[in-house]
Amino acid sequence: MGDREATRDILVRTVVHSGFHVRYAVHPCVYEPEEDTFLLADSLVKACKNGLKPSSVIEFGVGSGYISSLVLSLWNPALFVGTDINWYAVEGTRLSLSTYRGSTERSSIVLCNRDTCIREHATFDLAVSNPPYLLVNDEFAGECDKLLARSWSGGDKCLIEFCASLCRRGRVIFMVLSSLSPLDEVFECMKQFDCQANIVERRKLFFEEILVVMGEHVLDYKNSSRGN
Ligand SMILES: C[S@@+](CC[C@H](N)C(=O)[O-])C[C@H]1O[C@@H](n2cnc3c(N)ncnc32)[C@H](O)[C@@H]1O
Repeated sequence: MGDREATRDILVRTVVHSGFHVRYAVHPCVYEPEEDTFLLADSLVKACKNGLKPSSVIEFGVGSGYISSLVLSLWNPALFVGTDINWYAVEGTRLSLSTYRGSTERSSIVLCNRDTCIREHATFDLAVSNPPYLLVNDEFAGECDKLLARSWSGGDKCLIEFCASLCRRGRVIFMVLSSLSPLDEVFECMKQFDCQANIVERRKLFFEEILVVMGEHVLDYKNSSRGN
């Protein structure tokens, strides 16, 4: 499928999440918002209600753009950067965000492996990700199947790389994990970056529990009301 043909197949849906408008792309090669998406969304809405007010935000693995769009609705940050390795997800998220006022100047959605395309020492008030947190060894043949498999299956090394990218880039971070993830290794990664980690949301599903971990760099944490 050529690039132009692919974007023609993208639909954009609008829904309301806890009172906030969300637009997201629907395409056969793009991860559809699922329970993990909604759990991360719930934790961001709560953080907003608790006073978090980031003016720069980065998301790794934008997928359909559900979380990116919620971030714009919640905070309308001065800068929003989103990355994904799936071109359809990048195009879909660009489309989803295109109707937000000022989004063309303030947001940039890039085809990129996590944060590898971001200037070396650039940091953001908030970094979020719902990364591929399962380990599945199945082989997939079609283009879409391969792209979708990389949405949920990455393996231990991939999770630690996401954790490191989040901790390097965000003053506050939100990361989705599963009870099937190597939680000790991820918490150890956060510790190595002096990031104070807390589980802020959890939901039981059929065969696993999904979690949202919030991390704050220790100095920032001590200066915030939570660290007093
Ligand atoms: C579980 S989906 C989450 C999508 C969306 N943020 C949500 O919450 O619904 C994970 C996304 O990460 C993307 N992804 C996987 N590995 C990546 C990497 N190394 N860098 C950037 N994005 C990646 C996948 O293509 C997929 O869109």
